[in-house]
Amino acid sequence: MPNVKLIDHPLVRRDLTSLRDRRTPSNLFRAILRRTSSLMAYEVTRDLRVKEVVVRTPLETAKGYLVSQPIVLVPILRAGLGLVGGFVEVLPDARVGHIGMYRSEETLQPVDYYFKVPRNLRDVLVLVLDPMLATGGSAVAAVSFLKAKGARTIRFVTLVASPEGVRTLRKGHPDVEIFTCSVDRGLNEKGFILPGLGDAGDRMFGTE
Ligand code: PRP
Repeated sequence: MPNVKLIDHPLVRRDLTSLRDRRTPSNLFRAILRRTSSLMAYEVTRDLRVKEVVVRTPLETAKGYLVSQPIVLVPILRAGLGLVGGFVEVLPDARVGHIGMYRSEETLQPVDYYFKVPRNLRDVLVLVLDPMLATGGSAVAAVSFLKAKGARTIRFVTLVASPEGVRTLRKGHPDVEIFTCSVDRGLNEKGFILPGLGDAGDRMFGTE
């Protein structure tokens, strides 16, 4: 699929299996999600811009590298919060914005309730984090908000996507690259991803 990067590292596939498993309790779900998100961050930042520097080792000088591309992480509340810890572990200098959005159970349309992102998004890499891309409504709305705030380079990072969600996001924002650990079979009539992993927010916070 164009614009879709599949994160299929064996360790990610192993973790995704545990996350899908209905027997995995909240505490374990959170811990595994955190670990997986660090592995995802590694793939999502593979082409990050760096600049050369020189460091002194105890013996002589050596060429080294610093990350030269500012990064802003934007989790979509609530479930996106589960990906933040793992990302900041490997990207300690990243700034973090938040978008509060939930999907109405009746209309399946996204309802927004909070928006706070750093200023000057123009020249930064914005990574939108949400474990699920279902109908794609939340993702399209979140990216539109970010573009309205000046963001120009945006990647959408998700654990599990549906083909419908991928199509909708690609149609709404063809410039946004999607990183996902799986494109699942489809959606049920309630807009849940099949086979999916259930409602990630509820499983993380024990609100099923
Ligand atoms: C889930 C998920 C996404 C959205 C995906 O959030 O975390 O934000 O649904 O659905 P969509 O692609 O059809 O828009 P939810 O509404 O369950 O809110 P929560 O994170 O607060 O639990």
